[in-house]
Amino acid sequence: MLTANNFPEVGRIRTQRFDRGVLTAVADASGLSEEERKQLETSIRKAGLALDGVSEVRVAITAAKSGPMVIAVGSGKGGVGKSTVAANIAVALARAGHKVGMVDADIYGPSQPTLLAAPGRPEAIEKVLQPVETPFGVSLLSIGQLVPAGQALAWRGPMASGALAQLVEGNWADRDFVIVDLPPGTGDVQLSLIQKSKPAGAVIVSTPQDLSLIDAERAVDLFRRTDVPVLGLIENMAGYQCPHCNEVSDPFGQGGAEAGAARLHIPFLGRLALSSSLREASDAGNPPAAGEGPAAKAFADIAGTVRTQLEKSRG
Ligand SMILES: Nc1ncnc2c1ncn2[C@@H]1O[C@H](COP(=O)(O)OP(=O)(O)OP(=O)(O)O)[C@@H](O)[C@H]1O
Ligand SMILES: [Mg+2]
Repeated sequence: MLTANNFPEVGRIRTQRFDRGVLTAVADASGLSEEERKQLETSIRKAGLALDGVSEVRVAITAAKSGPMVIAVGSGKGGVGKSTVAANIAVALARAGHKVGMVDADIYGPSQPTLLAAPGRPEAIEKVLQPVETPFGVSLLSIGQLVPAGQALAWRGPMASGALAQLVEGNWADRDFVIVDLPPGTGDVQLSLIQKSKPAGAVIVSTPQDLSLIDAERAVDLFRRTDVPVLGLIENMAGYQCPHCNEVSDPFGQGGAEAGAARLHIPFLGRLALSSSLREASDAGNPPAAGEGPAAKAFADIAGTVRTQLEKSRG
């Protein structure tokens, strides 16, 4: 039989049976891209055939997806680069071959339509909003597509929650992952959104300053209270990348966020320097994760770590 010793991905095997030389295995491919599903099948076959007495391996990959896996991106306070990081993680996941959706739930400053250069408004079919395709393989529903800038800000809690529910309940059926860019803060709107979208995991974005780390702590607490596994902390605007020589310097020192993550008992997912080219590209609707520079590599790494943590947290 396949065990952790002969098949490292044994956690994906749901059932296996061995009968007269035939090994039959059912594996769960949730969260994997098309290519990875094929790889999983191939490696089960290979590992199975390497076992004594196995002459044939039959593999069933469970295709019945229970809908996309939702990843919430939160921060205790505003302006830490949460939306920028969320957009680029989404693009990096799409680049890795996943079908990715984005829910921009930030009623205070919906910025995903700009970050992802999303054209137009979503259509509703039988009252279900249809996400708008962006040039980066990420489909988007944003509060900014539904109301003029600034208007949502005046909403009271229940009204905001109602509108946000429509985004969460959009047509996401074909997506592998849906990223939810939460409004900053840890109040009722965030709480009801988390209850609605039932994230499989949460990512916290923080800047190096202590104050925002205290805010990050509040965000961690919000997810703990709602039983959402915290996948880890991303430190944004960590150090300064010189626009001339690209060297990163650390006017505020280094390691604060790592220490903070350790103190909160959550994984550290990576850091991004304060960089004017990142800001300019983001403002122009060219997410750096879609490009070729060092930022693309940084976001690909972070997205990979997010996925690893997600798999760990699901056991
Ligand atoms: N690493 C970075 N380097 C330079 N600029 C950055 C970086 N990350 C984000 N920014 C810029 O900082 C500003 C705020 O970023 P962003 O909108 O992503 O933050 P936010 O936390 O979502 O804010 P809000 O609370 O308003 O939703 C934007 O102009 C963005 O381009
Ligand atoms: Mg934002």
